[in-house]
Amino acid sequence: MSWIYFNEEHNMLRNMVREFANNEIKPLAQKIDNEGLFPTESIKKMADLGFMGMMVEEKWGGSGLDTISYCIAMEEISKVDASAGVIMSVNNSLVCYLLNKYGNDFIKENYLTPLAKGTKLGAFSLSEPQSGSDASNMKTYAKLDGEDYILNGTKNWVTNGINCDYVIVFAITEKGVGHKGISCFIVDKSFNGFSTGKPEEKLGIRSSDTCELYFDNVRIPKQNLIGKEGDGFKIALSTLDGGRIGIASQALGIAQASLDASIKYSKERVQFNKPISLNQGIQFKLADMAMEIEASRLLIYKAALAKDEGRDYSHIASMAKVYASEVAMRSSTQCVQIHGGYGYIKETGVERLMRDAKITQIYEGTSEIQRVVIARELLK
Ligand code: CAA
Repeated sequence: MSWIYFNEEHNMLRNMVREFANNEIKPLAQKIDNEGLFPTESIKKMADLGFMGMMVEEKWGGSGLDTISYCIAMEEISKVDASAGVIMSVNNSLVCYLLNKYGNDFIKENYLTPLAKGTKLGAFSLSEPQSGSDASNMKTYAKLDGEDYILNGTKNWVTNGINCDYVIVFAITEKGVGHKGISCFIVDKSFNGFSTGKPEEKLGIRSSDTCELYFDNVRIPKQNLIGKEGDGFKIALSTLDGGRIGIASQALGIAQASLDASIKYSKERVQFNKPISLNQGIQFKLADMAMEIEASRLLIYKAALAKDEGRDYSHIASMAKVYASEVAMRSSTQCVQIHGGYGYIKETGVERLMRDAKITQIYEGTSEIQRVVIARELLK
């Protein structure tokens, strides 16, 4: 495929990631989903290939690539295993991006470098039991005490929470001033008073872990504050803008896998003495899937390009995320429908696509929140 946003390196990267994903990740994906096992070995191999810090400068352990390269890799990995996709996405776009953009040299040397190399794994904790979409309504509190902050509170829905080494934590440092009192920290899991809850039992992305985090008088050195006190909420929202491009790419991978499986099966499955692909009822489904997938891809690369060119891309990232995630849900549902009864059992692997697609409409901002962001841009 020749493509306006692609250069030769992008095409080579896609071929390389596709081959790796098919050979190394795909054979394990269904089994670890069934058993809810974290793909430790796959993530290590992804790290060795430089997939865990793709957009970070080489100086800080990253691959120094552009956002389109990251989207290509996210799509190809998520096509075979959306769980591996989200683990990679959180480390790249919520953790490494944030540290690279807002961290000082101490943070970059001690935290970003191992995270970008993939020798350590990161997590991002913003949500709390009472504050999901209304993210600034948090209770986690960090009080300055000499050279340390003392952190208390609970975070939930934390992807990589159990398997990570370091966590980005947003906490109130000044009460009564709304989002202007929120600050951002990097917290080492080995700090005293830090513990994790049980892994959540989820509908999809079952081999990525999600859990609550508990902070009980955790002492965080002052030097682990990222940016200035009170910068935290803007750091969170601007980081989520990029995160949404990653999740849109994950959704695109799920949608493309749904189309590929539907084409293959409809050509093989014979009913009434002919392959079901000869029926217009099936052909129209395939055509709609292909058209919507291509439109998702265009929106995602538009957002990625805008980000790399330093233009405002918040609302385009939201458009890419809401559209690609809805396309993933529609495509995977049609894929199961085309497979009939065989689509509903685990053996064929397509029911996993439908289960995995759902979360892309929820995390890193629900479809409703993405529409709020888009509408605010239209009306400002
Ligand atoms: N970048 C930087 N700053 C931004 C911004 C952005 N994209 N959007 C808004 N801001 C600034 C505003 O300008 C404002 O600053 P001032 O007060 O100085 O003007 C400040 O941030 C607050 O903005 P709002 O008043 O618009 O904030 P709000 O409370 O109304 O919220 C929202 C806006 C879009 C609803 C936001 O809260 C939001 O995106 N909510 C969803 C949160 C979310 O995505 N959570 C997912 C958590 S991560 C996850 O899913 C887990 C995982 O592990 C994968």
